[in-house]
Amino acid sequence: MRVTVFGTGYVGLVQGAVLAQVGHQVLCVDVDKAKVAALQRGCVTLHEPGLTDLVQQNLKEGRLGFTTDAATGVRHGSVQFIAVGTPPSEDGSADLKHVLAVADTLAQHMEGATTVVIKSTVPVGTADQVRVRIQEGLARRGREVPPFDVASNPEFLKEGSAVADCLRPDRIIVGSANPQTQSLLRELYAPFNRNHDKVLVMDARSAELTKYAANGMLATRISFMNEMAGLAELLGADIECVRQGIGSDPRIGYQFLYPGVGYGGSCFPKDVRALIRTAGDVGFDTGILKAVERRNDAQKASLFAKIQKHFGGEVRGRVFALWGLSFKPNTDDMREAPSRTLMEALWAAGARVQAFDPAAQDEARRLYGSRPGLVLCETKEAALAGADALVILTEWQAFRAPDFDALRGALREPVIFDGRNLYDPARMRQGGFVYHAVGRPL
Ligand SMILES: NC(=O)c1ccc[n+]([C@@H]2O[C@H](COP(=O)([O-])OP(=O)(O)OC[C@H]3O[C@@H](n4cnc5c(N)ncnc54)[C@H](O)[C@@H]3O)[C@@H](O)[C@H]2O)c1
Repeated sequence: MRVTVFGTGYVGLVQGAVLAQVGHQVLCVDVDKAKVAALQRGCVTLHEPGLTDLVQQNLKEGRLGFTTDAATGVRHGSVQFIAVGTPPSEDGSADLKHVLAVADTLAQHMEGATTVVIKSTVPVGTADQVRVRIQEGLARRGREVPPFDVASNPEFLKEGSAVADCLRPDRIIVGSANPQTQSLLRELYAPFNRNHDKVLVMDARSAELTKYAANGMLATRISFMNEMAGLAELLGADIECVRQGIGSDPRIGYQFLYPGVGYGGSCFPKDVRALIRTAGDVGFDTGILKAVERRNDAQKASLFAKIQKHFGGEVRGRVFALWGLSFKPNTDDMREAPSRTLMEALWAAGARVQAFDPAAQDEARRLYGSRPGLVLCETKEAALAGADALVILTEWQAFRAPDFDALRGALREPVIFDGRNLYDPARMRQGGFVYHAVGRPL
């Protein structure tokens, strides 16, 4: 099938490359000239395991291409994916300007029968809105209107394992009431559907809400565990024991039960906010989601509060070693990352930061440049040198079993603030560390 994908971010690029890998002819369109030029050379700037190989192989074999020319993109595909960003507006709602810009482009250049598939995470009703927008654009052209349909097909990939998730999706949601569109999307996704039927067909509105409900539920689990962790600290319980105690119940399960320093990234924070906003627009109070967001904000601030308490409110002039800047492991994405909240609080209090991340160094440089108070170190060991304490913000594998003797020797004081509960508190105590974890006894 001939497929066009608008947007070459985490979703569009991975989906485009994976569709090409199974044999579709894919052309990806982006407005970012530098990104497209790099992709045309096979150069992938996103840190996503397996993606560079996939892009290079499919480029070489002629099934994948990149362009900034939207007209060429629209002419290429009988299926047109919209996978552009939907960043939060000031009021928390999803900003649809990029999605609607693609709708206008489609209306401007569409010639033959086209199926428009919305992959971006968009508020309920957007498929209808895009349909009207394209109809209006086509009407302005004053030409015969080619037949087209708009479907919702939300994406559930996880950054850090995006390629594997797209090659082996656990569900493929087809949001369309049109039987022709349903069967076309079934055909498009048939290569991913061989083991068992993963396609769930529903109306577009339900598909759109499914995506928000999924992220809302996952964010709720995290905030719930963070709340329990806070309580455990005050009651002298160990949240790790509690986690295992409840995770063993099959109705609860172990997934997404880790307390930490709060969720970040480009999806959970903005999607929770957008869903609260959508609900508000129809006069419905999402008390649970509001509490989830409040808890997350408090959690992101909690590590700084622990640091201040430990140092008796005196952090000015101190140096902190930070391990992990990305919002989670295996990605360089720092959007809404807890590391940013903490660094900004430390800088505001007059402290300095020596940071190391296995993938997000360039992203940190892009965001903070040569900000005074930040030194980006080449290794995790270099970040420790002369620091007053170590703070762990991302659970990268490389941080799980450090040389504790060397660590103790490098720090000015043997103090660790672990926002990801990587180590055993008893062993840390035996090793002479003051170990502050999340929801675990000191
Ligand atoms: N990142 C994730 O893990 C993830 C997972 C599931 C769903 N989503 C959703 O998918 C959507 C895309 O997310 P992302 O992380 O890939 O975004 P991103 O910000 O990484 O990439 C978006 C891309 O769209 C391009 N773009 C903007 N306007 C354009 C236009 N008019 N024409 C062509 N390209 C245009 C941008 O230049 C950018 O390269 C969002 O709605 C997001 O919520 C993201």
